Amino acid sequence: MKTKFTTFYRHIIKEERKHPEATGQLSDLLADIALACKIISLEVNRAGLVDVLGFTGEKNVQGEMVKKLDVFANEILVNSLTAGGHVCAVCSEEEEHFIPLKDVYANRLLQNRYVVHFDPLDGSSNIDANISIGTIFSIYKRFSESGPGNEADCLQQGIKQVAAGYVVYGSSTILVYTAGRGVHGFTLDPSVGEFLLFHEDMKIPKKSSTYSINEGNYCKWDKGMQKYIDFIKQPDKGSGRPYSSRYVGSLVADFHRNLLYGGIFIYPSDEKNKNGKLRLMYEANPLAFIVEQAGGRATNGNQRILELQPESLHQRVPLFIGSEDDVKLAEKFVNG
Ligand code: AHG
Ligand code: MN
Ligand code: MN
Repeated sequence: MKTKFTTFYRHIIKEERKHPEATGQLSDLLADIALACKIISLEVNRAGLVDVLGFTGEKNVQGEMVKKLDVFANEILVNSLTAGGHVCAVCSEEEEHFIPLKDVYANRLLQNRYVVHFDPLDGSSNIDANISIGTIFSIYKRFSESGPGNEADCLQQGIKQVAAGYVVYGSSTILVYTAGRGVHGFTLDPSVGEFLLFHEDMKIPKKSSTYSINEGNYCKWDKGMQKYIDFIKQPDKGSGRPYSSRYVGSLVADFHRNLLYGGIFIYPSDEKNKNGKLRLMYEANPLAFIVEQAGGRATNGNQRILELQPESLHQRVPLFIGSEDDVKLAEKFVNG
């Protein structure tokens, strides 16, 4: 039996100690998120046993049907972050507006310095089929000085993120995060209730032979996009073609597999949806931060995701993300 291990909390404290000026708040905030995700994990695993499956009958701000577990995951995250007291605003894919938060510990030296964005349950249409789903989060420092956060605090470029991560509720529950010093992966050991380090400083292969895209939309794409997919399917041993197709329909799960084995994930624009489907603040920015820290690349086809200036909380963006060489090649095709 292994007697030496590193928990998630111990790892973030170790990282924090490399910054003598750090107050410890970011570590505590990450711990609040990890706790919420452990509870979501428990509910996801129990979903087949109790009556939490199925639609609530409500629509979220994107006009999509919301499932009960989305609502639950959202509430758990909002409550955990509110109680933690480190956050001045919470922005969720499931909430129309950002939620400003008061400083619950007023009169102290530290205050609610951070803003958190999250997609509480990503891939929720897969819940009933027992396919992996996940939570994605992204953390910024506030701009404003004090009090509850405002819109400018919430609409920052991805490059300003101080930490980001995701949890996949799959054959096991794993947590992957970056605080700007590499990407680190943890597995939840349910018997001790802790995320334990399994992969420090993860790197994505520079080139791959795997693509992840909803190819059913082929007819709706522009010519460049179609040509790229045609190209990677043509046999050519030297360049690893034809590529294998892997698309499960949960971005976190597709992204995580590509991070480990190499691959490109694309959700492009199409004739109906000029900005594709995925959201800049809840999905693209956090995964772009992670992939860059792992040596990969993330763009909207011609601009770096992390440099895009957000205009609204729920804005969508075309996403090309994964192994560097693959993303660069796809960009060549879509830019003619
Ligand atoms: P969410 O469940 O948070 O709404 O996200 C679903 C997203 C993403 O996870 C996935 O990659 C994509 O939608 C799948 O879309 P298509 O069904 O259009 O392929
Ligand atoms: Mn999502
Ligand atoms: Mn979601």
